Amino acid sequence: MAFEIIATGHYVPSRRVTNDDLAQTIDTSDEWIRSHTGIGSRHIASEDQATSDLAVEAALNALEQLAPGKAMEAAKTIDLIVVGTSSPDYYGFPSVACIVQEKLKIENAGAFDVVAACSGFVYSLDAAAGMLRGNRKRALVIGADLLTKITDWSDRGTCVLFGDAAGAAILEKTDAPEEGPGKRGLIRTVLGSEGSGASELLCARGGTRDPFKAGETLDKPIHIYMNGQAVYNFAVRAFTDTIERLLEEEGITFKDVKKIVPHQANMRIIRAAARRLKISEDKFFMNIEKYANTSNATIPVALDEYARSGDLNRGDLIMTVGFGGGLTYAGNLIVW
Ligand code: UT7
Repeated sequence: MAFEIIATGHYVPSRRVTNDDLAQTIDTSDEWIRSHTGIGSRHIASEDQATSDLAVEAALNALEQLAPGKAMEAAKTIDLIVVGTSSPDYYGFPSVACIVQEKLKIENAGAFDVVAACSGFVYSLDAAAGMLRGNRKRALVIGADLLTKITDWSDRGTCVLFGDAAGAAILEKTDAPEEGPGKRGLIRTVLGSEGSGASELLCARGGTRDPFKAGETLDKPIHIYMNGQAVYNFAVRAFTDTIERLLEEEGITFKDVKKIVPHQANMRIIRAAARRLKISEDKFFMNIEKYANTSNATIPVALDEYARSGDLNRGDLIMTVGFGGGLTYAGNLIVW
């Protein structure tokens, strides 16, 4: 029994905002953003879009790949919906996964969200594979975020970093081997957490720790706070450790891995990790220049672009690596 990705999809909102566009209203510049992060532009959702709208479009894109012209029919074959997100449509509940289930008219499917910030898609793939071990065959796994609605647009240190997007993968339980020669699909996952760093990256207001009070006037909506330097240092360490651990546990070297599809918060994090690991930056599939940091969506969007590039072939061994709020970190090894 193996757990194989049989289709992928993604969606980005149509509105593209360049660094120069941001510099019209924020005290920043294309030069600063590019040199400090590698970001050139980001896509920003419209006022009337919520995270589930992006998630549904990404799911339809994956279902269309699975069954051209029959995406809504293919949706009926889904037994489980898992959505990694940090920016759900509603506080607490319902989950984005339940809204996706209704919009795609998927019947008889379990649906829930995973909260692991930018590591969420990696966690979600492993959670879905675990749950397919029972009497379920196909899971729709989505990473979706609309962080621009929970961004402090007066904080130039964070607002230039994020974009909106969703990515999806359809994971299927197949008869292929999960171990030994010819093994396929999701073969190994590393999951980690460091709650001691929770306060370095968080949305402080609105939860049960510090709820809004009746009559309170807010000067800012719920927004992301980040201690950039602390998270940067964590990210480089967690990123390199996760990659090394996956290689060591699997008993392989970089030569065996065709590409690493990483979470992309800052190009400098990838460069620093590549230097530590003594590997070329070309080992990473990068698209941060176009989309910025889209949190849960970064890895599945990149995975879909890579899968559609023609360079990823059946049998190739690839790695995903994520890190983010929580703090969390995670990685998958996948035989495509
Ligand atoms: O996905 C979740 C995980 N997130 C991450 O991994 C993010 C990790 N952190 C980072 O990527 C980096 O720390 C940042 C990109 C957030 C910041 O980069 P930095 O090189 O650490 O910059 P800094 O915060 O140390 O700021 C350097 C200077 C400051 O000016 P002074 O005090 O030296 O005069 C800032 O005020 O750059 C200034 N600055 C800006 N200037 C123009 C900060 N943001 C901007 C901006 N435009 N947007």
